[in-house]
Amino acid sequence: MNKPRVWLTRSIYAPAVQKIAEIAEVEIWPAESPPPPEVILEKIEDVDGILTMLTDPIKSNILDRAARLKVISQMAVGFDNIDIEAATRRGIPVGHTPGVLTETTADFAWALLMAAARRVVEADREVHQGIWRAWGPDVLTGKDVYGATLGIIGFGRIGKAVARRAAGFSMKVLYHARKRDEQAEQELKAEYRDLDSLLQDSDFISLHTYYTPQLHHFINRQRFAQMKDGAIFINTARGGLVDHEALLWAIETKKLAAAALDVFDPEPIPDNHPLLNHPNVIITPHIASASTQTRQKMALIAADNLIAGLNGKRLPYCANPQVYNV
Ligand code: GLV
Ligand code: GLV
Repeated sequence: MNKPRVWLTRSIYAPAVQKIAEIAEVEIWPAESPPPPEVILEKIEDVDGILTMLTDPIKSNILDRAARLKVISQMAVGFDNIDIEAATRRGIPVGHTPGVLTETTADFAWALLMAAARRVVEADREVHQGIWRAWGPDVLTGKDVYGATLGIIGFGRIGKAVARRAAGFSMKVLYHARKRDEQAEQELKAEYRDLDSLLQDSDFISLHTYYTPQLHHFINRQRFAQMKDGAIFINTARGGLVDHEALLWAIETKKLAAAALDVFDPEPIPDNHPLLNHPNVIITPHIASASTQTRQKMALIAADNLIAGLNGKRLPYCANPQVYNV
């Protein structure tokens, strides 16, 4: 019997590739940058499985060509680059990698929070440019993290992991989510708030929800306007959740003291984007889960999902479990 054929849209952790190669013929996109959509279109026609990154748009026009595709395995927790409904209609399960990246991502959200509060990036940039300002009472003063109020929007695994870290800084933790989680409230000493009151009372606001089209520009001008004067906004979730024109307004009017973004819309950020002119806006290129260990774990889970799909078994981590009910 011929081995199934799979395509990996990026080179991943070698032991994960080896696992896949035990049961499948593997082809790998060799470049560090994502394959262009026309290459995905061409490849998807003759593979049984595809292992994707969040930079690969797998929309319905691409799935139309996927005559023999049995599984999509995404190496990320988020999967808004994939048209899940279209995949489900075609009976194709989609894998993702929740859980293993939770703590790493929460660490990074915290790194951004601290860096924005204490102006770490701005200060470092000055020193690298040969500017060492003499110690002065007002030089590079920022905001205290200790004892401040943290508002977490989205209280899934990552949001909760961020809340857990706040205890060490004696922060008051507020959260907003579609559903209250009273057990987590007790464990993490977090207080449920409606969105308005969370925005009004938080010194730091951090986003931890999935992206859906309904949440497009969820944080818009009105929501920034509701925030406390001098608040700091952190986004490690998805760029599309935020109206960046509105964020620019909030920065230019000094409504916000600072912002730190690991995600943008579009990615990459256009190189002439006006937010890049503001030293109090930290922007990193979508690296919150980027620790070596976590990326290895993500690759192994993506391999397991891919292999299960090729074997016609239920994916260990399936983003569209409804595919099994039809
Ligand atoms: C990263 O953004 C992920 O979804 O894993
Ligand atoms: C969301 O994906 C989460 O892990 O919180």
